[in-house]
Amino acid sequence: MGATAIVTGGGRGIGAASAERLASLGAQVVIVSRTEAEVRATVEAVRKTARDGGAIEGFALDLSAPDSTRRLFDFALEKFRGPVTVLVNNAAIGYVTPFAESTREDILREWRKIQAINIETPLLLSHEFMRRLVKAEGPSRPGTIINISSLGGVTGTEKFPGLALYVTSKAAIIGMTEALAVEGKPLGIRVNAVAPGAVDTEMLRKAAPHLRTETTPADVARVISALADSRASSGVTGTVIEIHSNL
Ligand SMILES: NC(=O)c1ccc[n+]([C@@H]2O[C@H](COP(=O)([O-])OP(=O)(O)OC[C@H]3O[C@@H](n4cnc5c(N)ncnc54)[C@H](OP(=O)(O)O)[C@@H]3O)[C@@H](O)[C@H]2O)c1
Repeated sequence: MGATAIVTGGGRGIGAASAERLASLGAQVVIVSRTEAEVRATVEAVRKTARDGGAIEGFALDLSAPDSTRRLFDFALEKFRGPVTVLVNNAAIGYVTPFAESTREDILREWRKIQAINIETPLLLSHEFMRRLVKAEGPSRPGTIINISSLGGVTGTEKFPGLALYVTSKAAIIGMTEALAVEGKPLGIRVNAVAPGAVDTEMLRKAAPHLRTETTPADVARVISALADSRASSGVTGTVIEIHSNL
């Protein structure tokens, strides 16, 4: 694939599966998440399956901390030299609570946490990605951003109770995708979103322990890798790809 990719939230779940898939297709991948043991475990596992020049490095970092987005790109440059050409904005947190029963303080406190990682981080990383790619290569350097939204963030889909803050953040990601796709077009940068339904990960197990789904992180990773590969998805930009589970 010959890409250098950043995958946020790569310590587990969809992010770890995406890192594994991209490295198995020959990409150089940087993963980032807070839990050091999970970052290390993913790096060790992916090194065993990387192919055709594929490689992986891990960074344990809280992406909602000040200046972390710049530090992440500096880390990638130090490890892999050339510019980052694929950005997978995957890290996110959830919050489940009945809206009307929450206090104003609860809403504000949880919204600040959610918006910091689910919205602000993807915005700042996308800014860093576009700015650095243009500076390094000039306009028309192929690059691609893949934002992980959720079926809950797509207008008109069925919503589940208790997820107002999370769904609000995932709808914002779709707006961001469409807006950045327009700005990316003259620069040669494609921007797309993936909106999965229920996927068997820790996030789902915590938010809805009763739910069972056959959709795996690897299923989502295959879609992400197709969007990351400009040969597989040339000209595809500004789209939201829905992944429907068997629920
Ligand atoms: N699972 C589903 O059913 C489902 C459905 C639709 C959409 N999605 C979306 O898919 C994406 C991946 O979710 P998942 O199910 O794989 O969840 P997950 O298993 O909880 O993984 C989330 C990852 O994000 C990292 N992360 C969270 N906060 C972070 C921070 N402040 N800084 C750095 N890393 C952070 C987590 O690591 P640390 O906690 O160690 O930092 C973890 O590696 C999310 O955007 C989610 O909204 C999931």
